[in-house]
Amino acid sequence: MCGIVGYLGSQEASPIIIEGLRRLEYRGYDSAGICTLDGSTTSISRAEGKLINLENILRETPAIGSRGIGHTRWATHGKPNEINAHPHKAGNIIVVHNGIIENYLSLKKQLQQQGHKFNSETDTEIIAHLVDEHFNECGDFEKSVRLALAEVRGAYAVAILCSDEPDKLIAAKLGSPLVIGQGEGEYFVASDIPAMLSHTREMIFLEDGEFAVFTPSKMSISDLAGNLLEKQSKTITWSPLMAEKGGYKHFMLKEIYEQPRAIADTIAGRLQSDEGDIYLEDLGLTQEQLAGLDKIFIIACGTSWHAGLVGKFYIEKLARIPVEIDIASEFRYRDPIITENSLTLLISQSGETADTLAALHEAKGKGGKVVCICNVVDSSISRASDGVVYTHAGPEIGVASTKAFTTQLVALYQLALKLGRACGKLTADECRNHVEALLALPRKIEETIELDSEIEKIAREYVNARDFLYLGRGNQYPIALEGALKLKEISYIHAEGYPAGEMKHGPIALIDENLPVVVLVPRNATYEKVVSNMEEVCARGGKVIAIASGEESELEGKVEALIKVPETTEDLLPILTSIPMQLLAYHIAVFKGTDVDQPRNLAKSVTVE
Ligand code: AGP
Repeated sequence: MCGIVGYLGSQEASPIIIEGLRRLEYRGYDSAGICTLDGSTTSISRAEGKLINLENILRETPAIGSRGIGHTRWATHGKPNEINAHPHKAGNIIVVHNGIIENYLSLKKQLQQQGHKFNSETDTEIIAHLVDEHFNECGDFEKSVRLALAEVRGAYAVAILCSDEPDKLIAAKLGSPLVIGQGEGEYFVASDIPAMLSHTREMIFLEDGEFAVFTPSKMSISDLAGNLLEKQSKTITWSPLMAEKGGYKHFMLKEIYEQPRAIADTIAGRLQSDEGDIYLEDLGLTQEQLAGLDKIFIIACGTSWHAGLVGKFYIEKLARIPVEIDIASEFRYRDPIITENSLTLLISQSGETADTLAALHEAKGKGGKVVCICNVVDSSISRASDGVVYTHAGPEIGVASTKAFTTQLVALYQLALKLGRACGKLTADECRNHVEALLALPRKIEETIELDSEIEKIAREYVNARDFLYLGRGNQYPIALEGALKLKEISYIHAEGYPAGEMKHGPIALIDENLPVVVLVPRNATYEKVVSNMEEVCARGGKVIAIASGEESELEGKVEALIKVPETTEDLLPILTSIPMQLLAYHIAVFKGTDVDQPRNLAKSVTVE
């Protein structure tokens, strides 16, 4: 999974491309590269590691020209080193690519027999050689790219230059995201919106099989066979500032602090007060279809899966529809029983996660209806679904998901209310009461975020812990899992989330004075049970950090640290208790000095299976 950027216009391409790549580093950051054309003079620079290494090279050896392509890489084929960094060049053809070419070995063999010499271990280099091979035969850049792409199998988003036709930039997509930005006499192409936001808000989202050709005077979009297509641009309302750090030390912290706004935006405009119902614009299902559902499958990965676990509580409680929840990479290998009255609900921040997308195709193939909860408009998952409930978190850049998670919980709650109304399990008044609690949530999130410095002090005490245990029960159990995931992914401390009541069946053996145990113990139906579980930890010397709610005093003196979130309904408490989980992990990671926004081995959207 990688990020690509292309530019053709009258400005110097290099600074525009580098800025775009910086905004795409969340997609991968193990190497980066750029190619610019100044007439037929080609400048290519590539560097292992983060973008800053490439920038240092460009300071010494600038890339000149007003056409260019760039790439930030997350390795799939070949080591993350300079040789494997994009762009890849064969003859006069230069390519950047995001995706995987599945038949690259057979194509490589064929090209080698035709005399092509390969420099890298990547699948991408095949594309450059294939285009070059065709170009040598027909002498037409555009035709050569079309012929080459018809031969590759797999996924690609590509931007391609040819030094023999320097006034042309070609981009195409199949299975990997690609967006076009239209400026005044200039064109941009990139894997994602933030890469171009400071230049234009007019964007066109390419579909699979589409092919764009840019010249200084025009742009044309066609299918691979060359049939011209009419595409409408969309005006993106995200401001460039939304995609930047806005003065915070890390994107993650900024995104934690953005939650009151993100949640308010996700709530906005969805309450139909007169009917006591929820309006979900793009849901794509009629009232009758909703009322006829007899099963819901929730499918997602990582943090989005944790949101799904909470969603199961919401839907089963409010709509009384049975919910099965699956990790996306497992779902399609168990031959799930999907009927026409079942709904498959995918949850994905990026809308590009390969496992979730594959599960979507599995569900569709079996004839069920598919709806997604997604943060990225027009992403692959949202486009392939029958309906979408968008979260309005705005771009999430930090690899650790924060505001996407809490807005997913809000969207799940809204969907559960909508289902509850459609199935006749909720009255209009009941629905209004639930929404009232939801409307009060942004302010309560603000109050919870005000605990930041208190949580930072607690974090300092635990920087040297080797392991952490997180305990929760009922709808707080998924928050325990999420707290543990946050901590391990950014601080590299081993952490486990466990159902509090299950602790006595094994993990209790781990408890001693060196093990910090985060216990989610807000005032809810299982409060007393969880307090007993917590006492069991204290009795064995475990260091308890309790996350409680309201004016809690019963726990004072019993625990090492007590964090109190405001009171809200039992359903919405998981949204509030998520915040201390995020802040605790964040501060521990900062004290440890890890790379919070781009933790090792991870990338923001996992577009490989
Ligand atoms: C969360 O902090 C993770 N980085 C990761 O688990 C993520 O939630 C997962 O990869 C799913 O991504 P998606 O929501 O974009 O599909």
